[in-house]
Amino acid sequence: MKHLDYKELFENNEQWINEKLKTSSTFFDELASSQSPDYLMIGCSDSRVPLSSIMKAKAGEFFVHRNIANQVGLTDMNTLSVLEYSVDHLHIKHIIVIGHYRCGGVGAAVDGVDQGLIENWIAPIKELYIKNKQELDSYPTRQASTDRLSELNVIEQTRNIFRTPILERAFNRKNFPKIHGWIFDIYNGKIKELELPIEKWKKEGIVPECY
Ligand code: CO
Repeated sequence: MKHLDYKELFENNEQWINEKLKTSSTFFDELASSQSPDYLMIGCSDSRVPLSSIMKAKAGEFFVHRNIANQVGLTDMNTLSVLEYSVDHLHIKHIIVIGHYRCGGVGAAVDGVDQGLIENWIAPIKELYIKNKQELDSYPTRQASTDRLSELNVIEQTRNIFRTPILERAFNRKNFPKIHGWIFDIYNGKIKELELPIEKWKKEGIVPECY
């Protein structure tokens, strides 16, 4: 892949400004006035997953949070602040956790290679791997089981979202967003919607009946 020059970043920015002003001379006045996105995207930090580009979303359409392996930690102030602000103040309509195949964070959880702090960060994925070891070890290649773990990880993070007091409050006031789990298939560029076990979670009391 060709590397982008540091200087090019500014030149590209100038081009972008000119393109936007060509579409509308008031583009930046509108952009500065307010935001009312419909989507909260929680994705991986991986540079190969350019969230806005792959869905051709424009400025103002996605509220975004990214971290390594798209985690929703129930004690992570950063993620929880984003979640609370987007639900309580922006009144977003959809929360989408988007993972991807060939995720380095998920791969590290399977390989158990010491990569420093990231070891602690991905501990919940390791836990998920141990819990599903029988299924995951049945795949023909290590990559196939890691990719499947990426899917299970997304589903687990959506489950965590349901478990937050933020969503509990939203359910109580009967005004809540829909929660989705997606995978970005890095092999062909497609986004895939994963099936969430909503009925099972309802029985477990994780998802309320009103959902
Ligand atoms: Co990743």
